[in-house]
Amino acid sequence: MNLGPRLGELAGFWALVTGASSGIGAEFCKQLAAAKVNLVMVARRTDRMHALADALMREHGVRTFVSAVDLSEARAVDVVMSTLLEQHVRIRLLVNNAAYGPWGRFEAADVETYSHLVQLVTGTPIAFCRAFFDDFCSFPGAAVINLSSPAAIQPVPYKAAYSAAKTGLHYFSLALYEEWRSRNILVQTLIPGPTESELDEKGNAYPSALPEDRETPARVVRLSLENLGHDTPVVTAATGIFKQRFFNGLFPYKTITRTVGKMFYPPPGPSPD
Ligand SMILES: NC(=O)c1ccc[n+]([C@@H]2O[C@H](COP(=O)([O-])OP(=O)(O)OC[C@H]3O[C@@H](n4cnc5c(N)ncnc54)[C@H](OP(=O)(O)O)[C@@H]3O)[C@@H](O)[C@H]2O)c1
Repeated sequence: MNLGPRLGELAGFWALVTGASSGIGAEFCKQLAAAKVNLVMVARRTDRMHALADALMREHGVRTFVSAVDLSEARAVDVVMSTLLEQHVRIRLLVNNAAYGPWGRFEAADVETYSHLVQLVTGTPIAFCRAFFDDFCSFPGAAVINLSSPAAIQPVPYKAAYSAAKTGLHYFSLALYEEWRSRNILVQTLIPGPTESELDEKGNAYPSALPEDRETPARVVRLSLENLGHDTPVVTAATGIFKQRFFNGLFPYKTITRTVGKMFYPPPGPSPD
């Protein structure tokens, strides 16, 4: 069954990618530009985005627009929207990708860090979906890709707030898929497994029981874009998601949280307790 536009139908239209300065977001920009999709690139590091935008304009002849915004701020979406209005840009594909995921004991970070994290990972993507609804409806088909995580499938001790925020986005994305299906707007939930990027380094990751092998952003993004235009609510680039869901249904919460907790237990060292 078809739903929303295929990648080839997006040529000449605009996509907005959050977290476009590195990792999976930068890769979305590369593959979309190769398909002749114009790009609004949003993140904080403008130098990186301008360098990528210049290269993509030269190589693929697409139009680009760089927006330096802190998406953990509540007014971020208003700021982006008013700029797009000025530029007469209407968005047909939205990629809610930006995130930050600190590792370690919950009490090691402050309240402000967590409230920004929740806004960045859950609040801002929800606000973008609402803000672009009129744009989406003005096309014969439109699409949203929301970046979920295996941390939204099972609770992850020592990444508790990230796990909670991703779960919020995951369920929002699935629910909206059902609501917007009849409008020919595909809302797709993308679940990458461990993937080469800056996410863990920025989140002060420590050695854990997670597998060492990592996917490339190129493969994750290719899988996602191949599924545009299909009635596929969830695209999984992670292995073991089915096992996680099966385990959730079968075992008591205590068993689940202890098993996952052992995988992420922080190494000995200074802690606030
Ligand atoms: N890599 C993995 O193993 C993995 C696994 C599962 C899910 N994911 C998900 O995949 C997505 C992409 O992550 P990644 O792995 O590519 O990580 P990454 O390389 O760290 O990229 C994160 C992006 O988010 C942007 N960002 C962070 N905080 C921001 C803020 N306050 N305002 C605006 N932009 C902000 C960063 O740009 P600036 O710093 O320039 O603002 C960067 O462009 C995330 O949603 C992540 O949760 C990743």
